[in-house]
Amino acid sequence: MSFESELKTIKSAFNSAFTSPGITSDKLELLRIQYLGRKGEIASLFNKLVQISDAEKPLLGKHINELKYECQSLYDNVKKRISADICYEENKYVDYTLPGIPYNIGTSHPLETIMDEIKSIFTSIGFSIAYGPEIDDEYHNFDALNIPKHHPARDMQDTFFIDKSTVLRTHTSNVQIHLMEIMEPPLKYIVPGRVYRNEAISYKSYCLFHQIEGLYINKNVTFSELKGTLEYFIHSLFGRDTKIRFRPSYFPFTEPSAEVDLWDDERNQWMEILGCGMVDPKVLNNVGYNSDQWDGYAFGLGIERMAMLKYKINDIRLFYKNDLRFLEQF
Ligand code: DAH
Repeated sequence: MSFESELKTIKSAFNSAFTSPGITSDKLELLRIQYLGRKGEIASLFNKLVQISDAEKPLLGKHINELKYECQSLYDNVKKRISADICYEENKYVDYTLPGIPYNIGTSHPLETIMDEIKSIFTSIGFSIAYGPEIDDEYHNFDALNIPKHHPARDMQDTFFIDKSTVLRTHTSNVQIHLMEIMEPPLKYIVPGRVYRNEAISYKSYCLFHQIEGLYINKNVTFSELKGTLEYFIHSLFGRDTKIRFRPSYFPFTEPSAEVDLWDDERNQWMEILGCGMVDPKVLNNVGYNSDQWDGYAFGLGIERMAMLKYKINDIRLFYKNDLRFLEQF
């Protein structure tokens, strides 16, 4: 067979081989080795060049090169098509009824959730929101609130002192003083925030917790307004059927004072959730308000206690453990 016709035979052979229907990538690889491999049919054509005359070599060499490029580009095309087909096949078998990949986007912490709800109840009845310092002097945390020097709450057991006269606030009531120092009455604020106490830790007490302070100063404010406001708030948060009890109490900064308990169905007992009262005239005088002209009420809500009642959580420490098994329930 002449060299030229041998080229033609190889050409038509690889053309039909590469384009045969149903070719797989394994088969294609075998064909690549057969024709384009180092010891393949095209390489052996180059070896045969030694047998022919020098005059014929350049032209034949050129033809073999052309054949090689043709074969190579055919191979490239078929390979591309097969890999596209594989992708197509794989996609064809995606089962769209399988559950998706879950993304962990987190949830709002229960304390955050209840705080938001409480804030929106109070803002809907005319309260504004303010914030104040967590590290404060004894004056704002105690003295100005009429808490005497010898009061047991100041004791090293209950208060975290930072230095001789600076404390981590033991309640949000310190912000009552800050607000009245910088603003003229009337005013109507709630103050959410963290408070700190050096207390024995148990299912219902922790060294830090959250309060929302309320302060309303105006002319002729009455205790029944305070009572109505708190009843409205509690019924909005816990539902109309919640059992509430106002109990006379004592706080140095209010007179008269009361505490409010909610009935805890789980434990079958009353649970104290807030303290309140009419702002003591001494406190008004301390901030330079004229106590003959202005009255007010104040309250302090314990947020953890309310969240425990609302979400039926039996241990305050759970709020601070960051245990996903707990947090994911909200
Ligand atoms: N500050 C009090 C506490 O932490 C709670 C409180 C009681 C706040 C009566 C008030 C109030 O504003 O009027 O126990």
